[in-house]
Amino acid sequence: MMKIGILTSGGDCPGLNAALRGATTAIRERMPGAEIIGIENGFSGLTEGHSRVLGHEDLSGLLTRGGTILGTRRTPYKTASLLAEEENDAAIAAMRDACNALGLNCLLVLGGHGTHRTALKLAQAGVNILALPKTIDNDVYGTDVSFGFQTAVETATEQIDRLHTTAASHGRVMVIELMGHHAGWLALHAGLAGGANVILLPEIPYSYETVSKAVSARAKAGKAFSIIVIAEGAMTQDEFRMAKEERAQQRKKDGFSYISLKLAEEITSRTGFETRAVIPGHILRGGTPCAFDRILATKMGVAAAKLIAEGCFGKTVALCNHDIVLNDLEVAAGKIKTVPLDDSMLNTARYMGICLGV
Ligand code: F6P
Repeated sequence: MMKIGILTSGGDCPGLNAALRGATTAIRERMPGAEIIGIENGFSGLTEGHSRVLGHEDLSGLLTRGGTILGTRRTPYKTASLLAEEENDAAIAAMRDACNALGLNCLLVLGGHGTHRTALKLAQAGVNILALPKTIDNDVYGTDVSFGFQTAVETATEQIDRLHTTAASHGRVMVIELMGHHAGWLALHAGLAGGANVILLPEIPYSYETVSKAVSARAKAGKAFSIIVIAEGAMTQDEFRMAKEERAQQRKKDGFSYISLKLAEEITSRTGFETRAVIPGHILRGGTPCAFDRILATKMGVAAAKLIAEGCFGKTVALCNHDIVLNDLEVAAGKIKTVPLDDSMLNTARYMGICLGV
């Protein structure tokens, strides 16, 4: 009997369950005898032996449900890059052995760029593996969009909308810090959708001076309030010139645990405007997937089921110009899709006169 393992890995996001549903429903349609094994808590659960057979009752009600019914962990691949090569190889070998011990014919993993890196290593170790791209950061290489992203854009936009009314009422500057360590897709899309006046991304180092000038210019033009969207990975031009360790030290010395708090203080001290910082954090990862993500996750899940039925492995599913396409795992593994400086959304922001911090 065909045995198919499925796991979710890395940070959770809306749409994981919808993708699970898409894949498992199509597997059951196409391969009625197949057994679907849900591996709990990502790759850690695989090596620790936490798995269960997924039956009909486990798989209903998943389309709208946030998070992942399988549980997820960032380990071990989050630390994998810190490990010596032999330890890394041993971790991969342990995962492969666990797949064999479970009698899996193949493994489907739902995750971000770290997960894709592990998936490629497992493929090289002989595991029949497929990956689906999930993340609110939209930074998986080779796909235009990952599921989870659009829902986070909707959630962040709603938060910005709410800030608008209170910012306008008080004549304040509001800084909202959104997730996105390496890539500013979420800040860029939500910033544009929410009508932000300043958008700061990891890809474009900013200066306090430029941001403060933009806020003052708005005030002079009669707009007493401003909305600033900043991605958590954004850095000042000075910080950009520092090595990672030095930057971390400097931030520690400054005593701000979030960059938005420091930015708010800098704006106030330079302009005299009352400024508040808001950090939605993990709220952006929670909740039910929006319609776009339900559809995308379903299409990607079904594409994975089709590949399993055809016995085609070593691939990741992607969306390219609105079409579902396949990439070799090598395309996505170990790379991060950042916002290109000539991105059309960025150009739209520039034409709108939105300050990008430079
Ligand atoms: O999943 C990616 C991400 O959303 C990043 O934007 C953010 O920095 C990180 O997760 C937070 O992760 P954790 O849940 O481990 O704190």
